Order: sequence, then structure tokens, then C-alpha cells
Amino acid sequence: MNYDVVIIGSGPGGYVSAIRCAQLGLKTALIEKYSTLGGTCLNVGCIPSKALLDSSEHYHQATHDFEKHGIDVSSVKVNMKQMIARKNDVVSQTCDGVKYLMDKNKIDVHHGVGSFVDKNTIKVTDAKGKSTNLTTKNTIIATGSKPNYFPGMEPDKDRIITSTEMLNLEKVAKNLIVIGAGVIGLELGSVHARLGANVNVIEFADKILPTMDGDVSKELTKVLKKEGFKFNFKHRVQNVKNTGKGVVVTALNAKDEEVKFEGDYCLVAVGRKPFTEGLGLENAGVKMGERGMIEVDDHLKTNVDGIYAIGDVVRGPMLAHKAEEEGVFVAELLAGQKPHMNYNLIPGVVYTWPEVAAVGKTEEELKAAGVNYKVGSFPLKALGRARASMDLMGMVKILADAETDEVLGVHMVSARAADMIMEAVTAMEFRASAEDMARICHPHPTFTEATKEAALAATENRALHI
Ligand code: FAD
Ligand code: NAI
Repeated sequence: MNYDVVIIGSGPGGYVSAIRCAQLGLKTALIEKYSTLGGTCLNVGCIPSKALLDSSEHYHQATHDFEKHGIDVSSVKVNMKQMIARKNDVVSQTCDGVKYLMDKNKIDVHHGVGSFVDKNTIKVTDAKGKSTNLTTKNTIIATGSKPNYFPGMEPDKDRIITSTEMLNLEKVAKNLIVIGAGVIGLELGSVHARLGANVNVIEFADKILPTMDGDVSKELTKVLKKEGFKFNFKHRVQNVKNTGKGVVVTALNAKDEEVKFEGDYCLVAVGRKPFTEGLGLENAGVKMGERGMIEVDDHLKTNVDGIYAIGDVVRGPMLAHKAEEEGVFVAELLAGQKPHMNYNLIPGVVYTWPEVAAVGKTEEELKAAGVNYKVGSFPLKALGRARASMDLMGMVKILADAETDEVLGVHMVSARAADMIMEAVTAMEFRASAEDMARICHPHPTFTEATKEAALAATENRALHI
């Protein structure tokens, strides 16, 4: 079996790259060790988490907002088994969609663990131990990432769990302890908080989402506290014990005092680490970089000619859309094109409700870089659309260069922010000024008017509705 390209890993990086390679006429094979395609994102990441976030938000609205809308629903109950079953359906339909796309594009899919025999030979070992060798001109490593943890908080997959187990929990936690106030902790914590759990978050830093804009972090903290979250900042977890019926987490607070937290489950969500186990990188001479990542250059090429790496296994944000763009980039490079990726404009979204979305620089980053900037922000509560749907919490904040007016960063906490952020990404890709964004006609009534108002505020402090 001779290929132009062999891709190891079928997540959003790998499978999208395979499609683009095939579109460009390259003979392509995709290797996946699991029986379903789609990687972390489709199986145990983006898709299942969003399915449960949507279900739990429906329940939360039914129990909190319907009455105010004039809709009486007596005895609303959670059927967690059904909620998980629907999530599983969404996952399997989405994974089947990837299989269809592989067939449609005539991509050979090999199920088994892929490993390097040498630079141009990849061995695929299936679940029964049978192996097949593929020869290839080029290889793209897209093996993704796994949950990370630190000593003392090793997940036992029973009560001390990662996102993977949490997504299959068939009962609502009563007292959920979450270690890490990052994206996973807040998204999966929200699912159970909306369904009635007390959620106690233990975080090492002094705020939630520590790498995002400080104002976003403040605004979302208010929202989540209302939803029943408790936050314990500047805490260092010492150990987590499974008591059989629950968990006890011991931590040191900012004053170095020992504190204990009791709950029925502990979700460990302290980041993810690149996954390269069993790849046999040494057989091809591929060099590793820092923190378990594969080292790549600006063209995503490793130190070995013909071997590339993309997605969570290389530097940059661990996001599905970043992995996809990198997959397309390498495919086009292999086909002799001159692709380009703008790493400054990869949007980030947190699917709480309201949602959080951001692109470009945070205020903290601009300060640290000594950039002379101006800020315009607009609260959702001043928007007619937000009042109509009772989504009054949140704000849009625009950061622009003080001299040139170029938009440098846009940060939102808003209903539908995940979709709204694309206006900012597009504007920034074309290097718009705050005034450009302010002068674009926005439909009324929509949440996007908050972006226009924030742009007006950034331009000459001339927001119209506040
Ligand atoms: P992966 O999706 O991890 O895929 C790697 C694949 O390679 C896996 O299928 C693995 O089995 C396979 N593999 C590994 N080694 C081998 C081998 N030797 N041989 C054969 N196959 C191998 N990102 C977003 O952008 N939006 C979100 O909403 C979002 N939500 C998330 C929610 C959760 C709970 C989690 C955990 C992650 C979420 N992410 C989200 C992150 C996103 O899932 C990852 O950034 C993305 O999946 C990375 O894609 P990838 O192709 O690099 O790797
Ligand atoms: P994260 O990096 O987002 O957050 C980890 C949090 O844990 C940080 O706040 C960090 O300060 C804290 N932390 C680290 N060590 C700690 C310790 N010892 N004790 C207490 N707190 C500690 O990582 P997370 O939430 O695990 O998610 C992993 C990645 O998955 C994300 O970075 C993101 O790339 C991706 N993801 C993306 C989603 C999206 O796009 N909506 C959703 C879920 C995951």
C-alpha cells in the first residue's frame, strides 16, 4: 500500500486534513486506533459536551424562566439516562458523518494503532494484534491530546473523573467538586449546576479562565455564582481520596491553611497533554519539543523532511478549529500551494450561558506589551433584544489601537456570543478600525447590536443606547 500521505489520528485535525489532501489529488490514508472516527472532539469533547450543555440549559430555562414567559409546566423532571442517550445519538450520527466523508473522498481508513517503522513506513496494528505496513511519501501526525493531572489527583475513573467519564455520568451529581476553573471545569460544571448540583470549584489562580480578558472573567464569575457555583481561588490541591461513597479533596488555601472539600464526584480539569504514546517517533528520528509536544517549524514540519504534525499534539491553543486549519494548511503545502494561517485570530469560545467568546489580544496582553490602546464596552442589559429573551447578563468589549483605531481584541459575554464573535474575526482579518465596525449597519433587534455599540464606544465614546 503506497500513499502520498498517511495521516495518523482521525480527530478534526486528521480527518479534515485527509479530505483536503484527497481534494488536491493526493493518495491518502487515515489511521485511527478507535473503532469510530472523529477523535476527542466528536467522541468525548466538543460535540457531546455541547449536546449536554443544550439539554441542561433547556431544563434550567423550564425551571427558572418559563413561568415568567407565561408558560406553565408542572413537574419538570430530569431523565439523565435519556439525556445521555440523546447525547450518544448525536455523537454516533456525527461520527458516521465523518465515515461517509472518508468514503466520498476515497480515503483509505485503517483502524489500528499507527507507529513509525522508519521515516516512510507506518505500521498499523489492529485490535487483534494483526499488523499491516503502509509506505508513504509524507506523514501527518494528528494524535491529539489526553487529560492532564498532577500528583495526588490521579483520576480513578470512578469518583475521581475526567471530562471523558463526566460526559457519561448517568446521574446528576449532588455535590460536584471541580479542580480547575478553565473551559472544561466551567462547561461541565454548568451542566450539573443547571440540573441542581452544588458545584465547588478549586482553582490555583486568582480568577476563572485565567488566560482570558479580566473583565470577561469578572462578568462570567457573577453569572456562575447566580447559577450556584462556589469558587475557591488560590488553592493548591494536595490530594483527592475516593471514600467509596464520595470524595474528599484536601487543599492548601492562600494562607497555607489546610482545607477539606467533600463531594460525591471530583472532576479533574487542569488542562490536557499532547498524546504521542506508541507512535515510535524515535524510529523516524522525530524530535520532541517542550511539555510532551512534537516540535514543528512555521510550516508545521518536524525536524524530519516529509513528517508534519498538527492540532493538539503541537504548540498553540488546543481547539478543534485550530487543528482543522492546520490540517488544511499542511495538505495545501504538500500540494505545492502557499497557504497562510493567522494564529492571532483564532477565536476562543466557552459554552456557558451566556456564552463567552474572544478573539485577538486581551487588555492584560496589551498592557504587558506597552501598547497604547482604548476600550469601548457595552452592557447587554441596555439591549432590547436581550430584554425580550431575558438574557440580560454580559457585555461586549472592544480594544482598539489608540492612534490608528485598528481593532486589536474583542471579548464578549453574551447569549449567542459563539456565533457573534465571527463578525469580529472577519473585521479583524481585514484589519478593520473600531469606526469601521461602528459604521456597519446591524440588524435590529439582535445581540450583534451590542458589538456595534461597543465599537461606537471605542471610536469616540459615542455609544447610542447608554
Ligand atoms: P484529537 O481530536 O484528540 O484526535 C486524535 C485522534 O488520534 C484520536 O482519535 C486518537 O484515538 C487517535 N490516535 C492517537 N494516537 C494514535 C495512533 N498511534 N494510531 C492511531 N490513532 C491514534 N475544542 C473546540 O474548539 N471547541 C469545543 O467546544 C471543545 N470542547 C471540548 C470539550 C471537551 C470535554 C474536551 C476534552 C475538548 C474540547 N475541545 C474543544 C478541544 C478539542 O476536542 C481538541 O482541540 C481537538 O479534538 C483536537 O483535535 P486533534 O485532531 O488534534 O486531536
Ligand atoms: P484549561 O487550561 O482551560 O484550564 C485549566 C485550569 O486549571 C486553569 O484555570 C488552571 O489555572 C487550573 N489549574 C491548573 N493546575 C491546577 C491545580 N494543580 N490546581 C487547581 N487548578 C489548577 O484546561 P481544561 O479546562 O482542562 O481544558 C483543556 C483544553 O481543552 C482547553 O484548554 C481547551 O483548549 C480545550 N477545550 C475547549 C473547549 C471550548 O473550546 N469550548 C471546551 C473544553 C475544552
